[in-house]
Amino acid sequence: MRYLLGFDVGTTGTKTLVIDEEGRVIVTASSEYPLLAPRPNWAEQNPAEWWKATCASIGQALTQAQVDSKDIAAVGLTGQMHGSVFLDGNNQVIRPAILWCDQRTAAECEEIEGTFGGRKGLIELTSNPALTGFTAPKILWLRHQEPENYQQVRKVLLPKDYIRFLLTGEYATDVSDASGTLLFDVCHRRWSPEVLEALDIPEQWLPSCYESPEVVARVSAQGAQATGLSEGTPVVAGGGDQAAGGVGSGIVLPGQASVVLGTSGVVFVYSEAPDFDSDGRLHTFCHAVPGKWHVMGVTLAAAGSLRWYHDVIGPGEDMRRRYPDLGDYDLLEKEAEEVEAGSEGLLFLPYLTGERTPHADANARGVFFGLTYRHGRGHLVRSIMEGVAFSLRDCFELVKDMGISVKRLVISGGGARSPLWRQTLADVLGQEIVTINVEEGPAFGAALLAGVGSGIFGSLEQAVEASIHEVGKTMPQRDSVRSYEQLYQIYRSLYPILKNAFQELGEVQKIR
Ligand code: XUL
Repeated sequence: MRYLLGFDVGTTGTKTLVIDEEGRVIVTASSEYPLLAPRPNWAEQNPAEWWKATCASIGQALTQAQVDSKDIAAVGLTGQMHGSVFLDGNNQVIRPAILWCDQRTAAECEEIEGTFGGRKGLIELTSNPALTGFTAPKILWLRHQEPENYQQVRKVLLPKDYIRFLLTGEYATDVSDASGTLLFDVCHRRWSPEVLEALDIPEQWLPSCYESPEVVARVSAQGAQATGLSEGTPVVAGGGDQAAGGVGSGIVLPGQASVVLGTSGVVFVYSEAPDFDSDGRLHTFCHAVPGKWHVMGVTLAAAGSLRWYHDVIGPGEDMRRRYPDLGDYDLLEKEAEEVEAGSEGLLFLPYLTGERTPHADANARGVFFGLTYRHGRGHLVRSIMEGVAFSLRDCFELVKDMGISVKRLVISGGGARSPLWRQTLADVLGQEIVTINVEEGPAFGAALLAGVGSGIFGSLEQAVEASIHEVGKTMPQRDSVRSYEQLYQIYRSLYPILKNAFQELGEVQKIR
């Protein structure tokens, strides 16, 4: 029997899994690392922590699976997108990586769009606007704010690609992850000479770029020693976590889409062509399916909003007494279930770390709107779930505006385990939602990419067909759909009213 190993260098940790030739998950293992916030709205991580966790989780997965590493036919990798690992001429990391959710680059985004005569000029070249989390503005930030570090830069790698470098000694990336750098011509699936020249960024700083299932490197002797993999094991290009997650949720054909309730919330829609929203409100990136694309909306704090609530407030003591056997998140769900849909008029705007889709505003902030003496813990929890669902609806509205129809919607991510959150989403979107047999999204998608690269599967479509099937459906409930429709219209009206106040608050706080 041959096996495939996929790993995901995520924001909270690295997750590794091993699957067999039929796409069955044999084992999963993970190892965590901290998120550093040296200033408000900054988010950094030490790439050495990623490597340590990757080695630990691969080692653990191989041991638990009791698989001989020689039977691993190929390795696929994925990870958090947009992060910048700056390497010097000796391949040493110059400073902590600046992550996808970091908001320090608002001025650089303006500068980049200005270089191309405004947002539309940039969108024509890259299919996307300049957003604070993307990679190019981080490079410019380093140039402006840390010139002594900038002088030393010889390579800029995305998170998973730095780990690939340590594993194989090769500099490589894939088209889906490269799409989120803003240095990539998404239409033609290559680095953009125009953008690189205009921003004065040398192409030699960037790795070679491949389609996701291509074998691009092999595990080196050092990589083998550190991880327990066999030297020479093929490594495919892999994908950004959203594209790999799309594959891992079976989103590989027209009409298919997924909604991810992870730290961030994502609406991910397959696309046959590189169509983009002319105002750049949705991302248009290359898919991990060769020659295809995807359109995506990202709300930055989805399950992250609920985690924030859990960490600072948590379930009530009375609930702990009533349900001594339940974990914290189940207790939160119980509290929320006791409240009616609509949280008795309490609305939540989930902009805890600024927002990407649809507002692209680093200054946006979280808001509870409509609080009264009647509201208790359950209302707060439920309104968080509803606010995140409204934000995802914002993304869907933009997809509809682009004329893309969604026939099948799959849900994934940690928040998808909550029946209440699934129902809320189905009601807010007015759409049936499907759950599938695999929960490991990106890492599973990475393993399927490895399966295609090694020839175990003939294509991604075939890999998906063999390994993914529906296990449940959540249908929208007519009454709730109607009441949520009214609340959504109020929710939608709040950001435009608050926009200027967010900006003023941002200036007072001086987030830079
Ligand atoms: C996608 C994005 C996030 C990160 C972290 O554009 O920013 O999904 O990749 O998961």
